[in-house]
Amino acid sequence: MTRIASRVSQLNGEGALAVYSRAKELERLGRSVIHLELGEPDFHPAAPIVDALRGAVVAGRDRYCATRGLPALREAIAAYLKRTRRLGVAAEQVLVAPGCKMALSLAMMALIEPGDDVLYPDPGFPIYPSFTRGLGATAVPFGLEEKNHFQPDLEEIAAKITPRTRVLIFNSPSNPTGTVFSSSALQKIAELAQKHDLWIVSDEIYARILFGGAYQSIGALPGMAERTVIIDGFSKSFAMTGWRLGYAVAPVPVIDAMDLLVLNTFTCAAEFTQIAAIEALRDSAGAVDAMVEEYRKRRELFVTGLNRIPGFRCQPPQGAFYAWVNIEQTGLSAEEVQSILLEQGGVAGIAGAAFGPGGKNYLRFSLVSARNLLEDALERIERVSMHWRAAVTR
Ligand SMILES: Cc1ncc(COP(=O)(O)O)c(C=O)c1O
Repeated sequence: MTRIASRVSQLNGEGALAVYSRAKELERLGRSVIHLELGEPDFHPAAPIVDALRGAVVAGRDRYCATRGLPALREAIAAYLKRTRRLGVAAEQVLVAPGCKMALSLAMMALIEPGDDVLYPDPGFPIYPSFTRGLGATAVPFGLEEKNHFQPDLEEIAAKITPRTRVLIFNSPSNPTGTVFSSSALQKIAELAQKHDLWIVSDEIYARILFGGAYQSIGALPGMAERTVIIDGFSKSFAMTGWRLGYAVAPVPVIDAMDLLVLNTFTCAAEFTQIAAIEALRDSAGAVDAMVEEYRKRRELFVTGLNRIPGFRCQPPQGAFYAWVNIEQTGLSAEEVQSILLEQGGVAGIAGAAFGPGGKNYLRFSLVSARNLLEDALERIERVSMHWRAAVTR
């Protein structure tokens, strides 16, 4: 039997994809399913972005290019972060990669040693603990609990820091809870990072999808630029999921290390998508604000509707495009509710354990379908709620 390296056995998949496959199977059998399981916007990139891509391909911009990304795109990203996030970043601190996940994994490869402890949010993006374990390190969860409005508990984090702790990863707004970390939480995380000499990996992929206030990056706090790696990309803010384009912002020695990893793996991100990304950052059509406005309407409609379903409880997300619903009062497990919704109701959502043990009593729905579909989904959920109605304790 040919051997597969043991690090692969440390990795886990993504729960959303399993639900998606079953939903597709039901559709092949002629059943109607409303897809609220994947984090993929139903929007497509704005017309000027598509035009820029077409123009770049026609102009022959389809060659190998700079491993760190096109200088013009790195400049544009630095200017964009200054404009939208008040981050004073130089182009030499930016590295472009095919997707936010790739930028994240390069950063983790550059910073994490076997035997390190890495703190990460539970519930959270499942790749954080998975890739940490794949690198031979220990993934140490910190909770995002409903009783704290899904804000981190700083005492818990402080108590979990050991001499082996090297990196703390989080994302705000959070997938799956929709929480935006408070200024005081960011401040305290920054203090802990400085006190214990930690790296912060701040996944800011949802930074533009906010329902109030200006985005605050931990990297902009005093003393944090030198110990923060910001991860962001084009998938969510510009609806460019399949284009595979993301980036990292970090101190130059980290960028140098990541650059060597790029050279040893994928060489460069596609030149033509990078040229189109410069147009995306210009956002000449105002597409980002229009999209966020639509998410805001979906959020109002869907969260209000979910809170009317017996046994469901949902706080409105402060950012990102997910509804994170507590189903404890149904008396059923989240997996049972997920299955009833999909098999009998034709609504695909994900049982929260896919995001860590802290998600055990929750379901995540993505607000990535049009409002009329969300209304249909609410009706369908209401209809199958007869399965648990009698058990609901209010
Ligand atoms: C928190 C978080 N980070 C990263 C990603 C992946 O981004 P990309 O598609 O650019 O690789 C996602 C996608 O769902 C996400 O939710």
